Amino acid sequence: KMKIVHTINELQSELSALTAQGKMVGLVPTMGALHAGHASLVKRCVKENDVTVVSVFVNPTQFNDKNDLIKYPRTLDADCKLLEANGCSFVFAPSVEEMYPQPDTRQFSFAPLDTVMEGAFRPGHFNGVAQIVSKLFYAVKPNRAYFGEKDFQQLAIIREMTKQLNLDIEIVGCPIVREVDGLALSSRNSLLSAEEREIALKISQTLFKSRTFAADHSVSETIRFVEESIAAEQGLRLEYFKIVDGYTLQDLKDWADTNYAVGCITVFCGQVRLIDNIKYKEI
Ligand code: PAJ
Repeated sequence: KMKIVHTINELQSELSALTAQGKMVGLVPTMGALHAGHASLVKRCVKENDVTVVSVFVNPTQFNDKNDLIKYPRTLDADCKLLEANGCSFVFAPSVEEMYPQPDTRQFSFAPLDTVMEGAFRPGHFNGVAQIVSKLFYAVKPNRAYFGEKDFQQLAIIREMTKQLNLDIEIVGCPIVREVDGLALSSRNSLLSAEEREIALKISQTLFKSRTFAADHSVSETIRFVEESIAAEQGLRLEYFKIVDGYTLQDLKDWADTNYAVGCITVFCGQVRLIDNIKYKEI
């Protein structure tokens, strides 16, 4: 039976009994409003570990836009049902005071990973992500932690943070889960109107088409293809589209310059900010 705990103390006393028996602990950090994308991480964690901890915490320090924090969907009861059905052992749902008994003044730097894309458009966002994920790592002390490739830059930064802090935690990246029509699952999709939901489909469709286009065009031509396709859609506003080296996250000049090329996009659909990415080339 799954347990729901709200404090670090409670969680640690539950876990210490299990780790003393040599059990492997996996952690899946989330902000709740869970969907099949989150569920895929939980399933993978349950398969690979003896104990699965899922944190559900809307982390205020990573929201650079206060309204976005207020609007963020909160559905803990439904989340617990999904987690129990997927074999989660512990839901860790702390209060803001529990995670931040004092203001967190730590300043991380993951340059150049955090200066581009989301880092450039959401000042302080990745510092907040690093603050909460490091606190979760210290609290749970997992053997493995699971993150989605949906947030491609976040995954790269968490890997870097784990190295910087000398944490002995295996970071496991998991593929993007999409709706049948291609839209990447996101907690923010629930904020889309029916009409916006139709329009949002163009984002993944454009990325898929760009992969075919990229086969016989240059990097800059492929960027232009995506920029123009999105600009042609009424109701979408492109924030950025970048084709980057998947390791360094720096702009790619030529396909030949890497064995890991990823296209990362952020688009406003009405007031809702959506992100997605696609691999053009992988190892
Ligand atoms: P959240 O947006 O809730 O996402 C939690 C995890 O689920 C992240 O690792 C994210 O990449 C993954 N995820 C979301 N949608 C996915 C999809 N369609 N397919 C695969 N994985 C998906 O990311 C965060 O929360 C926060 O920044 C957090 C890491 C919890 C720190 O607060």
